[in-house]
Formats: sequence, structure tokens, C-alpha cells
Amino acid sequence: MPELCNLDGEILPLAQARVPVMDRGFLFGDSLYEVLATRRGVPFAWPEHLARLRNSAAGIDLQLDLDDATILRRVQATIAASGLTAAYVRIIVTRGAGTAPNIDLAFAPGPPCWVMIVRELPAIVGKPIQLAIVDRLRVDRRALDPAIKSGNYLNNVLALREARQLGATDCLMVNTAGFVTEASTSNVFVWRGERLLTPPLTAGILAGVTRALLLEFCREQRIAAVEQDLTPAEVRTADEVFLTSTLKDIGPVTHLDGRPILGGEAGPRTRQLLAGFSAHLDTLADNRYGPALTRLVGSQR
Ligand SMILES: Cc1ncc(COP(=O)(O)O)c(C=O)c1O
Repeated sequence: MPELCNLDGEILPLAQARVPVMDRGFLFGDSLYEVLATRRGVPFAWPEHLARLRNSAAGIDLQLDLDDATILRRVQATIAASGLTAAYVRIIVTRGAGTAPNIDLAFAPGPPCWVMIVRELPAIVGKPIQLAIVDRLRVDRRALDPAIKSGNYLNNVLALREARQLGATDCLMVNTAGFVTEASTSNVFVWRGERLLTPPLTAGILAGVTRALLLEFCREQRIAAVEQDLTPAEVRTADEVFLTSTLKDIGPVTHLDGRPILGGEAGPRTRQLLAGFSAHLDTLADNRYGPALTRLVGSQR
């Protein structure tokens, strides 16, 4: 399968792509990233991913040196070169090579390093998830805001490792106030009675693009979806639990802390929502994101 890398504008096989050891992304996790997927041939939710990348950059005071059109052109050229119809796209921006292995930004003259990885989209939509609420806390917003999609994912790496050791496939992390936040690379939703609940952004989570699109879909469908702080007990006693992410759409949680929910099957409401939501995302690709991209590319001429 073609795996390509766009390294500062040059497209090459992924296995041949190299970043200098003095790069601050390598040295300190001083970097940002986005993951998006193509859907029905278009980079899905491109405006949202680009806006989040720019917000993340502002959050760590990293000056992005490419304009929107150049970033999109590089992404599109790399996808086109891969020949993939269903592509996974990872955009990584680091603060570039430092002049010394020193964390001080005085040693970071820039420019940023731009890496785009394009490979086949993994088929994980609908895949059941076994979740464990782990002891390791989600990093506090005042320390490193999880809303910033930085390359510093050690918090998530170690929380996922803990979940794996408990026999689960993903973790659910709690914040310093004891409220539920998110999974290693996904947002969480629970059904309790007629209401769909999800932690608010103030809990210290990534503002997931899929999460926002699902909340919008629920408003359109008149499903009562509410952002509110959730305790681990409220998740443990929920009727159904699921995760959302770009790669999953909706991932049904079948087990929590080693115990099956609804006999270890994906819940009926989650399954129904997944079917409706995935179809809705296909429609958005055709009617919203495809035309938006055409306008953007057109405006470059
Ligand atoms: C920590 C975290 N939360 C949530 C998400 C889901 O975000 P999105 O729906 O934009 O893919 C991700 C995606 O990578 C993530 O890393």
C-alpha cells in the first residue's frame, strides 16, 4: 500500500522521510498535529481541521509560516500522489530544528517543519471498544490544555498503556476535579435515559471535530444532547457508552472496567445513531465539504 510523506513540500515514500535529531518535535514534543480522513473523495471537514491547527499553533505561540492555500495544496498533492480513495492524513508541524538541545525558545529560530503522512484509512468504524477508567489523570488545562492538539501525547500514551494492562482496548481519563474527560484519541458520549451526555470543553478535552458534528446532527434530529460534567459513576451506570473520532465516526463501547454493558454488544441506540450519523457525514462530504473545497481551490487560481 502506498505510504507517502510530504516533507516541507517534497513528496517521498514514508520510509525514506527523515527529520533532524535537533528538531524540537523530536527533542521536546514541541509540535502540533491534525488527523483527517478523506470521505467520498474529499479531505473531510477541512475548514475545521485547519482552524483547529491554527488555534493549536496560537496556543503554543508557534508561528505557522504557510498560508491556508499552500497547506491545502500540499495535502491534496500528497493524497493525489498516493492514489488512495480512502486516505488517512496526518499533518505534523514542529517548531523546527533548535540551535541547541535547550528548551528555551531563544534557541528555536524556526522555520517550522511541515510533515504530512498519507496512508490507507484503517477500517475501524463500528469496531467495539473495551474501555477502562484509568487512575492516570488527564493533564490539567492549566498545565497543557488538551484543547491544543500538540505532539506531546505522553499523557495519553501512558493512560492507554494502563488500560491495556487492565485488559481494555482504550482508556477513559478523569480530570483533577474528578470528572470524566476523554479517551486516548477520542471523545466520549453516554446515553442516560432519553438524554445523550458528553463532557463540556471546560472539562479539559480536545474539541473533537466529530464531537461537534455529532452535537450539530443531534440538534437537527431533535435528540437531546447535553454537554455536562460527568462523574465516573455516571458513566458506569449509563445505558450505553460510545466514543467519537475522525477515524471511528462512532465507536460503541461494549465493556467498561472489564464488565459487559448490555451483554457485551453494541447498544441499539448507539448502533442506530452510528448508521444515521455516518450517512449524514457522507452527505456533508458531498454537500458541504466538497463544494467548500472547490471554492477554496478555485480561489487560488
Ligand atoms: C485526545 C483526543 N480527543 C478526541 C479526539 C477526536 O477528535 P476528532 O473527532 O477531531 O478526530 C482526538 C483525535 O485525535 C484526540 O486525540
